[in-house]
Amino acid sequence: MDKTYVLGTDDEEIARLGVQHNVWRPRMLDAWRRAGITTGQTIIDLGAGPGYATLDLAEIVGTEGHVMAVERSQNFLDALEEKAAHRKISNISYHCVDIDLSTLDDLSADVVWCRWLLSFVTAPRSTVQKISNTLRSGGIAVFHEYLDYGTWKHSPPIPEVETFVTAVMSSWRDTGGEPDIGRWLPGFLAEAGFKILDVRPLIDVVAPSSFVWQWPAGFVEGNLDRLVEAGRLSPEQASATHNALALAEASPDSLVTTPCVLEIIAQRL
Ligand SMILES: C[S@@+](CC[C@H](N)C(=O)[O-])C[C@H]1O[C@@H](n2cnc3c(N)ncnc32)[C@H](O)[C@@H]1O
Repeated sequence: MDKTYVLGTDDEEIARLGVQHNVWRPRMLDAWRRAGITTGQTIIDLGAGPGYATLDLAEIVGTEGHVMAVERSQNFLDALEEKAAHRKISNISYHCVDIDLSTLDDLSADVVWCRWLLSFVTAPRSTVQKISNTLRSGGIAVFHEYLDYGTWKHSPPIPEVETFVTAVMSSWRDTGGEPDIGRWLPGFLAEAGFKILDVRPLIDVVAPSSFVWQWPAGFVEGNLDRLVEAGRLSPEQASATHNALALAEASPDSLVTTPCVLEIIAQRL
């Protein structure tokens, strides 16, 4: 089952998701505060991965609240359960579910948090309908999903990274996903009975000295081999990408623009 996720579920991917989470955590917490996430709520973390956000949610809702980690990879859920036990967090339930195959009918919540899932499911429109079905009237859904993955570019330009980004997007589409799913999300939400309360693009332009740089740079290093295996890059292209990025990293004048994420806070009518 774990093999079906395009980016893999091994320890290296768990570590990469940890860096990604730490880069994005301030914006996530800001969105949660504006969305009204607070003590005592029941929250679904949909497509929770190894649960970095689940743990944050569990601490916020406290012992009166509850968080459901819904995720297809048992390996990710095991990693989450281990971290929760270590931190003595006991208000999380674990749901090993393929969202494409389940109705999610047995789940209900005050809030659904959904980050970087809709680019990977094969039926995002029906996933949004399922999210709607889990929420009571007045319930809130918060999304951080890609709006325009192709904004990921370097200054000065690195053609090898642009080829890499195109290969990543193709590899997700190969497995039934859509990188720029944020372009469809407002329409799916309207159809599923949501009112959009707030919407904003999230994008950075940063130098190698910024922690944010580690997010795209780490993604390149972690995915070159996978793209070679998938036949999307040649070994020569992979090594040229690695070398070009190392050169950019050594230059204080170089900048990267990150893939643009769409934040949406929506309310179930
Ligand atoms: C990029 S990761 C994001 C994980 C987490 N939301 C985060 O923000 O760190 C995408 C996650 O979606 C999960 N996923 C993809 N398709 C799924 C499906 N059909 N059902 C359940 N989980 C799925 C993957 O296993 C992976 O954990």
